Amino acid sequence: MTSNIIDSNLAFDAKFSPDMPYALGDPRKIRWDKYGLFGLQQTKENVLSGYGAYSSEWERGGPVQNDFVSAAAKNAGFGDSSNQLREAGANLVYHAFQVLIEQGWGTINYAEPGAGLSTVFVIKELQKNKFDFDRCFFILIEPSDERLKIATDYLKSVDLKEGQHFVSIHGRNVDIAENILPGTLDIVYSVATDHHSHYPYHERKIEANATRGGGIKINAEWCPPTCYHPSMLYEWLFINDEVHELTRDVWKSKGNDEKMFERLFPQYSDAYPDLGQLNMQAWKEIMQFWMIGYPQAKLAMVDAGKMALKGDPNDIFLFEAHSIPEDVVKSLKEAGYETSLEKSPLLAEIYENAGLIENPHRLLADSNRLAIISGEYVGKPQQ
Ligand SMILES: C[S@@+](CC[C@H](N)C(=O)[O-])C[C@H]1O[C@@H](n2cnc3c(N)ncnc32)[C@H](O)[C@@H]1O
Repeated sequence: MTSNIIDSNLAFDAKFSPDMPYALGDPRKIRWDKYGLFGLQQTKENVLSGYGAYSSEWERGGPVQNDFVSAAAKNAGFGDSSNQLREAGANLVYHAFQVLIEQGWGTINYAEPGAGLSTVFVIKELQKNKFDFDRCFFILIEPSDERLKIATDYLKSVDLKEGQHFVSIHGRNVDIAENILPGTLDIVYSVATDHHSHYPYHERKIEANATRGGGIKINAEWCPPTCYHPSMLYEWLFINDEVHELTRDVWKSKGNDEKMFERLFPQYSDAYPDLGQLNMQAWKEIMQFWMIGYPQAKLAMVDAGKMALKGDPNDIFLFEAHSIPEDVVKSLKEAGYETSLEKSPLLAEIYENAGLIENPHRLLADSNRLAIISGEYVGKPQQ
């Protein structure tokens, strides 16, 4: 689906030159606790504008976007990270279902904000393990009809009935409050969706309120600190030699854009925050995607006449609310989840059965780029 809407992502990018081969999008979509570092005030209005910027982004993009993003990921050497996350997440979700059933819970109410291909992976995992679908009810929540349909089409194809086994909600995680009764969910699962939670305490609290005591939240995510400090972006955009080599034939106005970036983000020259080895490695990897893999893929699309360099509806925007695993844990705890395997025997059993030994569970040996982070809802903020 394409759209001609001039949204705030495009409006922000219009501050830079038409030959800049990167799209940043609206900075109000980054984690709100980083706003100050990016020259933004932590106002309610800015947070609400961030929600608006995400919404207009979902209206954009079609099949070309999938090809473009896959090519960028391949160029960055990521392999099939998306399916790796979906597979690992589905395994843990199946064990959560299994343990709750063994503990005598009745029908398991499962909600998935950001439903899509990840839902298909969950259903396949349950099928593989001959799980009784009459013991579960799936609530699929997704703002994009196209992605929601991927999930519902698959459920229907395996004979699950709308109303009896599942419902679909065209909406976001924050719309749960209006659509789901408090204290009724047993499992809340998301893949690569919570990085759109730029005010994460709020999003997690809404999910928590709809969750039964002892219910499980599982988040399979990309966890690089992409937008943790403008200096970490400045370095790659304007100093890095490889980026310069790759883009110099196209990006004639780079000097002007550098000045604009400095004006918009005056803290561009600060030292990097110290986020620890695993998070800094994740940052290098994601920058490899955004600063190298992405322009390579984009310039190839532009050459092939499939995309415009600037303002194309299939473009993707860098400013998002990715969180390092430590911050995901923090938001879960604030919203009333226990994340420690020592303190939650329920979570510990699910993890052990799934063959995982740590929460957060890192999918890569030396980087926090991909992680699964879970919590048991215990109803009050945790230390
Ligand atoms: C990277 S995709 C992953 C989709 C799916 N989980 C999968 O793995 O196939 C992220 C999805 O999150 C959805 N999304 C973004 N913000 C959301 C929100 N606040 N609540 C629910 N879904 C959201 C987007 O529309 C998009 O489909």
